[in-house]
Amino acid sequence: MHDCLLTATAAASAPGLTVVIVGHCDAKLPRLVELQAAAIAKGETGAPLNVVTPDGRFLLLKPDDKAWHAQGGERWRLVGKEIAEGVRQAKATAATVLVGGKLVDVQALGEGVLLADYRFNTFRSGKEGKRTQITVRVPGHAPAVAAANAMAQAQNLARELADLPGNVLNPLTFAQRAVAEAKKAGLLVKVISGTKALRKAGFPGLAQVGQAGSTEPQLVELRWKPKKITTKDRLALVGKGITFDTGGISIKPSDKMWEMKGDCGGAAAVLGAMVHIAQSGATIPVTGYLALAENMPDRLAQRPGDIYVARNGKTIHVDNTDAEGRLVLADVLTYAGEQGATHIVDAATLTGAVLVALGDKVAGLFSRHDDFAKLVAKEGQAAGEAFWQLPLHGEYRAMIDHPHADINNTGGRNGGSITAALFLAEFVPENVKWVHLDIAGPAMQGAGWRYYAKGMTGFATRTLARLPKALTGG
Ligand code: BES
Ligand code: MN
Ligand code: ZN
Repeated sequence: MHDCLLTATAAASAPGLTVVIVGHCDAKLPRLVELQAAAIAKGETGAPLNVVTPDGRFLLLKPDDKAWHAQGGERWRLVGKEIAEGVRQAKATAATVLVGGKLVDVQALGEGVLLADYRFNTFRSGKEGKRTQITVRVPGHAPAVAAANAMAQAQNLARELADLPGNVLNPLTFAQRAVAEAKKAGLLVKVISGTKALRKAGFPGLAQVGQAGSTEPQLVELRWKPKKITTKDRLALVGKGITFDTGGISIKPSDKMWEMKGDCGGAAAVLGAMVHIAQSGATIPVTGYLALAENMPDRLAQRPGDIYVARNGKTIHVDNTDAEGRLVLADVLTYAGEQGATHIVDAATLTGAVLVALGDKVAGLFSRHDDFAKLVAKEGQAAGEAFWQLPLHGEYRAMIDHPHADINNTGGRNGGSITAALFLAEFVPENVKWVHLDIAGPAMQGAGWRYYAKGMTGFATRTLARLPKALTGG
């Protein structure tokens, strides 16, 4: 009943205006139409989601009751997708959406429009490459529209970076783009550039993995310094940014290897979230760390069997150069703690094993701090991103023992995402609350999913972006 869609064209208050009514059965609908039509007649057009010449087409939605709301923001994002597709199908460039509802719902709707309309068409020539932008106005909802624009743009930035191929996006160009975006957003930026500087500064893992890359590895540090601080807590976000993961000397099979251009999805989500955090004026200091490297086989590449000393003094045996994500993250987790983080969340396309465990619609969550884990999972749910906690089971620590070093970088096939997380745990300072997000599944989609077209999703951007408010009780 509630899903009954009303589609109608009605006479409108301006000539040439088509009002498309999309909503579920509800007696109150005509009243809403009246109210909204009156607002438009008064010249209230609302803020555009994107700016292109409007062509006077209207969409009206009234999905405002408990049944719709029970399914949370996702329902609204999906409605947003319907709008984006409707506008495209009608060969229109603009629409005005008349909708009642709470700010969070209208925000989700706007996000859905913008996320659904994203295409990675940078390299398409002809019609696809010249895809015009659409404008969607939502009269009377300026704050929700602004919030939707901010969030969706942050996430689409993350998607674009993950979608860009390895010949275009390498550690250097990623760092350059990150610096530009961060400065624009008002973040302070620091980059440690190249293997030599990274080793000197105490990031041997990033140097080891990136030493054979087509460009040098980079550590980008993005700092949000609020004018007003309302907490003693300090949040750090750490992202795995392998711009291409061949596996290195432990080379991957060629089938689907191209997907590994998206192995920087964690760093991309951290960058997107940091931009959003700056724009939304969080009252907690936040630092984002992007661990950027290209994992290549080469004369200069690290070898299976290499042993090196991590930042925290523990020795690591590189059993498999394809388990590179944990190597680039380890020292950065230690460093984030040294820098004063009380809470660290890392996001990484870390293991194929998490896909086996949870599939490609749910990400893995690992933590020893139940309260913080709950908070992150709850924000995920509110953002429409699913995380499922897997155990940092102590008995499995022995799987990453090695006779010649303190820790091995692989733990065998079983429980692969857990041993990867246990590896990371070795490098997180004791007193820090830490959550590890293994987003290897939902970060990449082989087919369309919800409001995402095939390709990279920017998964975790929305969850990470919400954390400052969640930690400051706002
Ligand atoms: N980037 C991969 C993990 C991955 C696989 C992400 C599939 C997205 C889709 C990671 O660096 C990797 O290669 N992990 C290995 C670890 C193994 C060698 C211990 C894996 O999962 O096979
Ligand atoms: Mn790998
Ligand atoms: Zn990888």
